[in-house]
Amino acid sequence: MTPQPGGPARDVSRETARDDVSRETWSEAGEPAWPEPAAIDTPIGAEAERAVRLLHAAAKGTLPRPERQRVFTIANQKGGVGKTTTAVNVAAALALQGLNTLVIDLDPQGNASTALGIEHRPGTPSSYEVLIGEIPLRDALQRSPHSDRLYCVPATIDLAGAEIELVSMVAREGRLRSALASLTDYNFDYVFIDCPPSLGLLTINAFVAAPEVLIPIQCEYYALEGVGQLMRTIEMVKAHLNPQLDVTTVILTMYDGRTKLADQVASDVRAHFGDKVLRTVIPRSVKVSEAPGYGMTILGYDPGSRGAMSYLDASREIAERRQ
Ligand SMILES: Nc1ncnc2c1ncn2[C@@H]1O[C@H](COP(=O)(O)OP(=O)(O)OP(=O)(O)O)[C@@H](O)[C@H]1O
Ligand SMILES: [Mg+2]
Repeated sequence: MTPQPGGPARDVSRETARDDVSRETWSEAGEPAWPEPAAIDTPIGAEAERAVRLLHAAAKGTLPRPERQRVFTIANQKGGVGKTTTAVNVAAALALQGLNTLVIDLDPQGNASTALGIEHRPGTPSSYEVLIGEIPLRDALQRSPHSDRLYCVPATIDLAGAEIELVSMVAREGRLRSALASLTDYNFDYVFIDCPPSLGLLTINAFVAAPEVLIPIQCEYYALEGVGQLMRTIEMVKAHLNPQLDVTTVILTMYDGRTKLADQVASDVRAHFGDKVLRTVIPRSVKVSEAPGYGMTILGYDPGSRGAMSYLDASREIAERRQ
């Protein structure tokens, strides 16, 4: 049987943090005795020091548990804006800080499954079988190889046919919601649903299943293009299928501080969405884009990097700004 999150699992994150530094760097009190930043004069040294700090701080698990489970749909029909990267890295950051977290991959591309190192070859029990009602959601759960508290329902290529198959099905828009509601024996604090770049039935199922929408916006030309259509779809779902639906969070991704454009986009998005926009901005970083190639999140691949720091900060903001 698959072990449940929140069970008597070992606190691997804490052990990992300790394993990453040599014994001499830990004082008797069990606290790391790293040198002051001024004493670290190489970029690699500074990055290693940040990694130790990050893992140590995260392993303390200081984040508050939400009063009840929070379910987020991560959506933007614009392709390549950072939906999947945000889903897996925010989820991994929350798991690292002690919260039980589930990512549901609802994109036939299966990018979230890849990034979490989760098996998703054709034939693997996946979100497709869950949506068409062949299996309960618990039968498609896989635990991340990198964290005891991070789970994933993978997507296989079979999901590509689901948009069409769902059309003729009963309660076609509410199938993910029902599947999630029947997952009573697991204790997930956060659920993130990673959507494909479209506003078809897969994304509608995600909107019906989640009270909260998180919209990633890339700091590039045409950043707000299509946002009007996205908001109209959300309003339509809210009016007819899920009155609780609300855009609670907007995150700016792939920010390049060297360009004026990025600042312009960021201020346009803040003017449009107000305080829904996280203060934390995710920088453009090669390491963030490399991590999925190793089946890892940025927090596992390079915990000292700016990308890891920013996703950790974003996860804290999400956890602290609304319960
Ligand atoms: N902060 C970042 N810095 C650099 N590259 C990034 C960053 N975030 C995402 N990327 C890269 O940009 C590409 C698109 O990101 P991602 O797959 O997360 O977007 P998406 O919105 O999920 O795309 P799709 O619409 O295809 O599902 C990927 O190659 C990803 O690795
Ligand atoms: Mg994606």
